[in-house]
Amino acid sequence: MTLVIAVDGPSGSGKSSAAKGVARALGFRYLDTGAMYRAMTWWMLREAVAVLDADAVAARSAEPVIELGTDPDAPAIQVDGVDVSVPIRTREVTNAVSAVSSVPAVRKRLVLLQREIIAPGNIVAEGRDIGTVVAPDAAVKIFLTASEAVRAQRRVKELAADPVATVEVTRTEQARRDLLDSTRKTSPLIKADDAHEIDSTELGLHEVIEAILRFAKEQT
Ligand code: C5P
Repeated sequence: MTLVIAVDGPSGSGKSSAAKGVARALGFRYLDTGAMYRAMTWWMLREAVAVLDADAVAARSAEPVIELGTDPDAPAIQVDGVDVSVPIRTREVTNAVSAVSSVPAVRKRLVLLQREIIAPGNIVAEGRDIGTVVAPDAAVKIFLTASEAVRAQRRVKELAADPVATVEVTRTEQARRDLLDSTRKTSPLIKADDAHEIDSTELGLHEVIEAILRFAKEQT
């Protein structure tokens, strides 16, 4: 029997670290769907496509060749053969990604790719719509949250190299991104009815991983 574990939640909730940790503990593959939307956004910016123009984004959305690895210890991602693991994490991409990911043609293409990767099972997939749209039959669905303040602090640590990314700036940008992600028409960020909600505000990474592993164990 194979298992699919879906981990959804807002930015900075600790999804990536938790999903990777669970994948490592179980010897599963790991899928970072956010990295795919970021890769698409990086390509659009490089091609000077107006990212706020949904028609312009849709018209070019079939072009970039996006390939990504599913090893939780080295989840590399390439666009047209170029490793973009680092540039997809810049503030420029982060602030443009919600606009690009709200375009239905982009979602249609990336969701198909995600389903192909998930199909063989034994995978932990993280994103915003895994439990609701990409893998609605996933045996384990987690909705990971944390207070806005804690989420902003976690992001700032990730963006340590960027001097503009203070807690205040990050908190504002993050709130804007979460609002866009949860109010868009196509597959908004929303908790699946059958998802287990874990609030990580007061929990350490290890405790979150343990909680998810307990839910996974119930299925085996
Ligand atoms: O998870 P991460 O913060 O890297 O995701 C970047 C962006 O990609 C999100 O803000 C959201 O706009 C988009 N995304 C999405 N659906 C997913 C994963 C990410 O729309 N399943």
